[in-house]
Amino acid sequence: MKIVVIGAGVAGLSIGWRLRQSGAEVTVLERAQLARGATWASAGMIAAAAEIGSNDTPEGRLAHNSAALWPKFAQEIEAASDIGIGFRQDGTLIIARSDAEAAELQRRASTERRFLLANKARGLEPLLGEDVAGALLDLTEAQVDNRALGPALAVAFQRAGGKLQVNEPVVRIEVENGRAVAARTPFHMYRADAFVLAAGAWSSRIEGLPPEAVPPIIPVKGEMLALAPRNAAPPKRMIWGNGIYMLTRHGQLLLGATVTREGFDTRTTKQSAESLLERASAVIPGLTGWDVVEHWAGLRPGSLDDRPLIGPSALEGLFVASGQYRNGILFAPAIAELMRDIVLNGAAPEPTFDPRRFAKVEANA
Ligand code: GLY
Repeated sequence: MKIVVIGAGVAGLSIGWRLRQSGAEVTVLERAQLARGATWASAGMIAAAAEIGSNDTPEGRLAHNSAALWPKFAQEIEAASDIGIGFRQDGTLIIARSDAEAAELQRRASTERRFLLANKARGLEPLLGEDVAGALLDLTEAQVDNRALGPALAVAFQRAGGKLQVNEPVVRIEVENGRAVAARTPFHMYRADAFVLAAGAWSSRIEGLPPEAVPPIIPVKGEMLALAPRNAAPPKRMIWGNGIYMLTRHGQLLLGATVTREGFDTRTTKQSAESLLERASAVIPGLTGWDVVEHWAGLRPGSLDDRPLIGPSALEGLFVASGQYRNGILFAPAIAELMRDIVLNGAAPEPTFDPRRFAKVEANA
């Protein structure tokens, strides 16, 4: 089976790799540079409990199942590519800053998630400020070096026999007799048996699709900062609280992230930097003197209901893996396996994530 995957971010590359490993002939087409969209801009968090909460919703199950796949997925990527991707399972500390927040965290405590009194939390992370009222410690949560991940996945995919073309945007899907038959770029027409649209925030910007098959994906901008610590070691664990997360990568403390809907504008703003620093310093007061060494923005693929789109589209032969919103890195291994089963074996999608849920709205309109 010949398959074209549109988008070489963490989703497109992971899906392409799994499809290739199952015997499909796979070409991944990327509009710009390899894994330079949300994959590059993110913080590489694999933090299902901190980001999504419990596993009693379809999204919670997707998040926790995917987090459980990550340790093996990371090993497999490193073995197949000979590139280190910095997977670290050193846990998350979710901070409460009031007694009410602490009581809420205490309710969420379980065998994997221990509630810590404020002094215990500060014992683990001495930089935490005096107004920390308690914390939830989850030692299963992990992170990966997202900027190494894309190139490593690309090597793994290509060594498995996959083809990758960068700087080659798919501008149009050609449709014959109600079926997607080719992806047209400025340079070439790629005919295939199936097409997987995994183009992140750019997933709806493709011509030729009937309206009900266009995934309603909206770019959601996120700005982040990297700080160089001064006179102190940065935290060991990821820290969440006060509407911000912080994690240490290559000796720098990453702070994230803003959430704004401003189209495809990726300019960074002084206002966002100030707001991130203000939120972070309320949790770690000592970081006010640290230097900002990087400030960047990226576009997450948001959807109309903030849930991912994983499965067949309303157009035969076209499949969608998009709308991961804030969880593209976390969801990647699970989405890759789901898409492999859906595209190659006709497995049914999870109804909550079925891309055709929006086609019904479009048809009624
Ligand atoms: N996953 C973190 C973010 O979207 O900011």
